[in-house]
Amino acid sequence: MTEPTYLRDTRDGYDKISAGYDERFPTMAVDGALGRALLTAYAEGIREAGGGPVVEVGCGTGRVTAFLDSLGVAVRGIDLSPEMLARARKNHPGLRFDEGTMTALDLPDGSLAGLVAWYSVIHVPPADHPGVFAEFHRVLAPGAPLLLAFQVGDEPLRFEEAFGHRVSLDFHRLSPDRVAEALRTAGFTVHARLVRGPERAERVPQAYLLAHRE
Ligand SMILES: C[S@@+](CC[C@H](N)C(=O)[O-])C[C@H]1O[C@@H](n2cnc3c(N)ncnc32)[C@H](O)[C@@H]1O
Repeated sequence: MTEPTYLRDTRDGYDKISAGYDERFPTMAVDGALGRALLTAYAEGIREAGGGPVVEVGCGTGRVTAFLDSLGVAVRGIDLSPEMLARARKNHPGLRFDEGTMTALDLPDGSLAGLVAWYSVIHVPPADHPGVFAEFHRVLAPGAPLLLAFQVGDEPLRFEEAFGHRVSLDFHRLSPDRVAEALRTAGFTVHARLVRGPERAERVPQAYLLAHRE
């Protein structure tokens, strides 16, 4: 099947900016306390439910995967960009990182105890979210939690240049209501959502959604 242009552009873009991204966002310490708190609560929920395999989809350089690992979660990362993955493997040699796309995950049905997509569904056009959420639903076990983080807004932000490189990267700012509706349609129960105002250099509010596969 022909690959959609947006996947090729996203992969090429992140391949080019991997060094700059890694330098700008080395660990979760540069994120807000609320984001870290949600990941911590998520990890606690996974442990309380008895553990099991968790995947961070769109793991980039691996900082979220490593944060979840430090909280006792059996987590591995999947990403589209070989260069981001190369940095993830170098930064976190004890963890597993695989190449793949959230639009067609190479994972068995019902095999995951949890899935985190931390600022990665923003690179999939909203028209394709139903397919991605159906894929998340397919790979998660019944009752397993899905945690999403994304920027809030109506218009995509397009970057033609980033970290000194020419890129073609779209950041789809999203409506929490529309994402929640798409999750429900895909067979999730939306359990919690948080929208916070911009912090540090952020330009728009940020949203976090926790849902469970029905
Ligand atoms: C903004 S970065 C976030 C990385 C990491 N979650 C973090 O917070 O540091 C977005 C990542 O999503 C990945 N990505 C974008 N589209 C993807 C797709 N369809 N499948 C898998 N990964 C994807 C990109 O390659 C990039 O590494």
